[in-house]
Amino acid sequence: MKVSVIGGAGYVGLITGLGIATMGHEVVATDIDKERISLLNTGKSPIFEEYLDSLLKHCIQQKSISFSTDVPTAIKNSDLVIVSVGTPSNPSGRIDLSQVESALKDLSENLTPYTLIVIKSTLPITAVNMLKNELSKVFKEGNDFEVASNPEFLREGRAVYDFYNPDRIVIGAGSEKAIDILKNFYDPLVKRNLSISNEVEVEVEEKTIPFVVTNLPSAQMIKYGSNAFLANKISFVNEIAQVCESVGADVTEVINGMGMDPRIGSNYMQPGPGFGGPCLEKDLSALVELGRHFNLEATFMKSILDRNERQIDLIKNKLDGALSGYSKKVSIFGLSFKAGTNDTRNSASIKLIEKLLEDNFYINCYDPVADVGITDERIIQFEDPYDCVKSTDCLAIMTEWPEFKDLDLARISELMGAKIILDMRNLLDSEIAKSKGFNYMGLGS
Ligand code: UGA
Repeated sequence: MKVSVIGGAGYVGLITGLGIATMGHEVVATDIDKERISLLNTGKSPIFEEYLDSLLKHCIQQKSISFSTDVPTAIKNSDLVIVSVGTPSNPSGRIDLSQVESALKDLSENLTPYTLIVIKSTLPITAVNMLKNELSKVFKEGNDFEVASNPEFLREGRAVYDFYNPDRIVIGAGSEKAIDILKNFYDPLVKRNLSISNEVEVEVEEKTIPFVVTNLPSAQMIKYGSNAFLANKISFVNEIAQVCESVGADVTEVINGMGMDPRIGSNYMQPGPGFGGPCLEKDLSALVELGRHFNLEATFMKSILDRNERQIDLIKNKLDGALSGYSKKVSIFGLSFKAGTNDTRNSASIKLIEKLLEDNFYINCYDPVADVGITDERIIQFEDPYDCVKSTDCLAIMTEWPEFKDLDLARISELMGAKIILDMRNLLDSEIAKSKGFNYMGLGS
């Protein structure tokens, strides 16, 4: 099929575009971001993600994808258009729909009948209705176009793997025709009939990938509900960890014991500095907003958000307590919102840094790939973790980069002033850290 991806240089759009290019489709990834498109045309990815560079190289060599800023031409030549534009929150917490509106304008001026419009972005349910209504003013729904929802469940850092190994493919559509088109579209992925060279080392597992076919709002609610539930697990485990600290329990053992009940499980139950990233918080806020729209008060969703917000204050309090009597010089390891990505959007680490700056701390920071992105004379970013810790009194580990597990703690101990470690991902072995002279504090024990 001829496919265009609007928002094709963004995170979801790029990975989706490349993935479907290995499914035998002819893909044009379009984006209004000229810089990103020029970079992609030179074979370089604007995003750090495992397997992405080799996948991009493969698709360019196969000529199965092209990159363009010419959105109108791409729409005119497509049978299927994937909308994967950004939907950031504006400062008031509301979703900024300007990129969706721009896509809508391009679609209403350039669409050629029949085109299936597939929404990948996590759009508010009301926005999808708006899109359908506006297009219906120009075209006949059903005959000229249809809109389907096909949410993605990609995790940053694991996104290429997740694309090839989904647990389910959700299709929300209003007609058999649209459902059939999307099922045929995904057939090569489901049958594992992919054109992907060995140089792209991503694992494609032998597995059955079920379709979940629903109406449009249900498909969107599957996405919102999934992200809200994941966020709920993290706020839950962070609260359990806090109680564990007070009663002398060990959260790792508690989660292990709880998780043996298959109704609970222990996946996605790691205590940490709170959930970050561009998705969980935004989707929870959107659910709260949706509730408001229908006069429902989403108190539970709000409490998940509140608990997450509080986690940074708790960490700051821990740090203040540990540093009492010492200097205000700390080092922070890990800036991205999780390991495997350079994305610092909504990162707990950045939130902590902002709080520390308000309190006049001096901060050395280190991350294998992410940039701190704050200009302040009190912050220095280092390229080497050992240079970073020199003469600081506390080291806070905020991101679970595997390399932090292999740090030479004896060397770090020699370089630091007061030897305090706040391990907010429970990465290190507390006994080893203590044996190297550290005052070690993890979460939940
Ligand atoms: C999340 C969902 O997991 C994806 O399924 C979804 O497609 C994506 O949002 C999206 O809507 O686009 P992502 O935000 O990339 O993916 O990352 P997660 O792995 O879910 O982690 C989110 C946050 O929770 C991170 O800050 C992470 O460190 C934290 N986390 C995660 C924990 O603190 N503990 C855990 O056990 C798991």
